[in-house]
Amino acid sequence: MKKLAIFASGSGSNFEAIINACENKEIDAKVEILITDKPSAYVITRANNHNCPVFAFNPRDYKAKADYEEILNKVLEDNKIDLIVLAGYMRIISNVMLDKYEGRIINIHPSLLPAFKGAHAILDAYNYGVKVYGVTTHFIDKTMDGGKIILQDCFIANDDDTLESIETKIHAIEHILYIKTINKVLGEK
Ligand code: GRF
Repeated sequence: MKKLAIFASGSGSNFEAIINACENKEIDAKVEILITDKPSAYVITRANNHNCPVFAFNPRDYKAKADYEEILNKVLEDNKIDLIVLAGYMRIISNVMLDKYEGRIINIHPSLLPAFKGAHAILDAYNYGVKVYGVTTHFIDKTMDGGKIILQDCFIANDDDTLESIETKIHAIEHILYIKTINKVLGEK
């Protein structure tokens, strides 16, 4: 069975959707470990509820990104990870991890890339006044939100949608799209 590592920095609703899908055998893989750069993130509680091991670190404890990514590489190697799934991990991955895992790191972004890159994609799209919203899954490369696209999905906003209702719809799409994406990527390996 393939082994996944999920990286997350926040609430972890995508983590929850993926680990549920693994447990329900919708995905033929196991979440071996949650890796987080936020030792107080709610995603840790979710991992504990699923008895999923957690590696939490604080980037401030390291002089450079390379120092903690070397440690993350070791954690990934020890756990024999096949696929790294970024799910709201709010840091750029550097060459230290990319050189080792290029083609095996995927991300989800709450916009139709290449539109609205960055940390506030939903708000930026809403403020821009777009009528079609979407979600993109993609491989990670050396650019921010720039790697090869795997899947996208979208919906047309209703006149009475608010920022909150748009966010809810986007997250619902994410949870389905990420499971499809993981199955697609694992199927091609
Ligand atoms: C999602 O919107 C994802 O697309 C973005 O970060 C958010 C994470 O949400 N990269 P959650 O922590 O999985 O609920």
